[in-house]
Amino acid sequence: MTLWSGRFETAPDPAAFDFGISFGFDRALFEDDVTGSIAWAHALAAADVLSAADTEAIVKALGDILEQGRRDPSWIAGPDEDVHSFVERQLVDRIGDAGRRLHTGRSRNEQVSLDLRLYLRRRIRLLQQAVVKLVGACADQAEQAGAAMMPSYTHLRRAQPVLVAHFFLSHASALRRDYARLAMAAEEADSLTLGSGAIAGTSYGIDTNLLAHALGFSRVVPNSMDASSDRDFVATFLYAIALGMVHLSRMAEDLIIFTGEEYGFFDLADASATGSSMMPQKKNPDPLELVRGKTGRAIGRLTGWLATMKGLPGGYNKDLQEDKEAVFDAEATYIASLTATHAVVSRLSVNSERSGRAASGLLLATDVADYLVARGMPFRRAHEVVGAMVRRLLAEGRDFSTLTMAEWREASDMFGDDAPKAATALASVQARRTPQSTNPDAVSAALADCRRWIRSTSESK
Ligand code: ARG
Repeated sequence: MTLWSGRFETAPDPAAFDFGISFGFDRALFEDDVTGSIAWAHALAAADVLSAADTEAIVKALGDILEQGRRDPSWIAGPDEDVHSFVERQLVDRIGDAGRRLHTGRSRNEQVSLDLRLYLRRRIRLLQQAVVKLVGACADQAEQAGAAMMPSYTHLRRAQPVLVAHFFLSHASALRRDYARLAMAAEEADSLTLGSGAIAGTSYGIDTNLLAHALGFSRVVPNSMDASSDRDFVATFLYAIALGMVHLSRMAEDLIIFTGEEYGFFDLADASATGSSMMPQKKNPDPLELVRGKTGRAIGRLTGWLATMKGLPGGYNKDLQEDKEAVFDAEATYIASLTATHAVVSRLSVNSERSGRAASGLLLATDVADYLVARGMPFRRAHEVVGAMVRRLLAEGRDFSTLTMAEWREASDMFGDDAPKAATALASVQARRTPQSTNPDAVSAALADCRRWIRSTSESK
């Protein structure tokens, strides 16, 4: 028995009907469907469509249904076409005709959009909490790293020395944008669709502003035709996740490289690594590789969803049902990846002796050039002078620390006795001046800012 069987002479062909069943996955919307229906019953009552007795029976029965579903999620099952049909069947089983009055003036088109909006509002908060937790792990690593240094890279070639803390806070910065992007997705979903009917609006005197308020929405959709097919908020959510996954993937890639034997700046904890079935020496970063791999899947959910939307004529089309598996899968992928990344990052140890050693050497060339600039040489000229020094040092397998004073002067008579001191990793980071730089004071301030941000996110809950 479907919600629409009255119109048809024959029972549906299972080959066609089963294909359209969404209950297997939209049961995740159970709680939101019931919440929306309780509010709808009150709105119908306020519009004098439902009697007080019917309203009371409906609200009470829906409350029982909600409780039963929460107590035993496996109960949310059956031959129903979708979660909306399931809830209505349960309601009618309990209270008969009063239950049959609930769908007055309402369509599943607006209902399913409402449910998904309510769902996202709940779930985005959980995703944001997981993002904050990972930012916290980066901040902890930054704090523990103290004065430890490592090379930074461009083109994956050694560029300039940075504090290890600066590296961890760089990833925290991207994660903070992910948090904000999730907030934007929640903001976009924050519109009430009820009152739109199937497409043209409802003919009952529903106070949509009051209903929006009751359900915690800050506004009502402006156009019923648009509302019946609008899933932009789904695309925005999937984009927030796709880019969030891209950031996790890049962090994973950095950590895979920096924990490998060739770099060895950080060590993976045994607890967050895996072994090889054949090679006894292996300690593999599987969780990080899987995060990187699953990023392709999250991007696929976004592009797949955009492709589904692009050809749709106005108004509701059944294609839109595909939104839910995209949302649920992307969400599950993201939360699992955030959790796994947190497990790895929080147990990482910094091998500061090794990372520090890699942070000195020829990557101090810019600092040597800056030394000359400070004494009046035009930068382009200084670049040439130091370039020639680098060429020579490379040929001789040496670095700046081995130059004698005579050799410094030979390169340029502007080099004074203090030149060797300028060519150290510590002098290099201390020479940075801007707030976003790796200057140790700037990094301390950035860490404090990160901690404040973490606190502010829990206060805003
Ligand atoms: N399962 C459907 C979906 O997810 C619910 C809406 C059904 N509306 C309809 N007109 N068939 O989109």
